[in-house]
Amino acid sequence: MGKGKKVTIIGAGNVGATVAYSLAMKGTCHYVVLRDRNVEIAKGKALDMSQAANAARQHTIVTAAQEASDIAGSDVVVITAGSARKPGMSRDDLLVINAEITKEVVQDVKEHAPNAIIIMVSNPLDVMTYVAFRESGFPRERVLGMAGILDSARMAHFIHEKIGYGAGQIRASVMGGHGDDMVPLPKFSTIAGVPLSDILSEDEIMEIVERTKHGGAEIVGYLKTGSAYYAPAKSTALMVEAILQDTKQIHPCAVLLDGEYGYSDVVSGVPIALGAGGAEKIFEMTLSVSQKKKFAHSIASVQSMIDVLKEKNFFS
Ligand code: 2OP
Repeated sequence: MGKGKKVTIIGAGNVGATVAYSLAMKGTCHYVVLRDRNVEIAKGKALDMSQAANAARQHTIVTAAQEASDIAGSDVVVITAGSARKPGMSRDDLLVINAEITKEVVQDVKEHAPNAIIIMVSNPLDVMTYVAFRESGFPRERVLGMAGILDSARMAHFIHEKIGYGAGQIRASVMGGHGDDMVPLPKFSTIAGVPLSDILSEDEIMEIVERTKHGGAEIVGYLKTGSAYYAPAKSTALMVEAILQDTKQIHPCAVLLDGEYGYSDVVSGVPIALGAGGAEKIFEMTLSVSQKKKFAHSIASVQSMIDVLKEKNFFS
């Protein structure tokens, strides 16, 4: 491979492959490397996507990694590897299985792509981001989790569905963990600057908030054998683009808190400025008493899962 931006995606399942496809269709980077336990599948998808990139008149080349060292020189490593949610399974049920997988994968990143920015996508998202932070030893700016963009996009869709106008102008705000305790922030949500509360009733807003919290489960309910991937992949691709193009745009992402909002040594979703350095700035919003309470609740559920891993002496 010559010079050029390189993104590795670990896990070539539905989410990973769709991230790769989104990047290739926009020509966001020169190289995408797909790494999967099943190398043949990764090879087939990579070839297919490189051909699609040519159809789209883009320059992105997608290849499959044969070995861990093929990820060397990656600017960004997206980790989607893990077991997906099955119907009736909570994100938390995946905890131990996916923590082990994350640990193993992060060792490879540490060894072969020590300067990369890691974007975690595997669930339970906030805990896996914490595992990646701990096991990589990277500074927190370079270990991010994708969830807030997805959850906000879901909320924006539900708002649009309800009001029928303002598409593309809806700024829905969600913070906290990517779990049933996530914190949609209708008071910080607007349509072209018009507050949501001036357009919808309290009941309508509550309905949207509840549907947003269970947005992932609603899709699992339909798909039966898997979970959502188009919106998760597009949300991940947006993070990759902001980093590679150094846009410094503000997005809600999961990151290790170090005193922000009064919490430390725990990961949660908060607004950050994304640029070439990863999380270049973390924003602390002034929350109301009730928003603070909900955020505390969300932090507590992530913390309890981290504690489970700590009790098992999971961390190296
Ligand atoms: C989702 O929200 C499964 O967490 C994934 O769709």
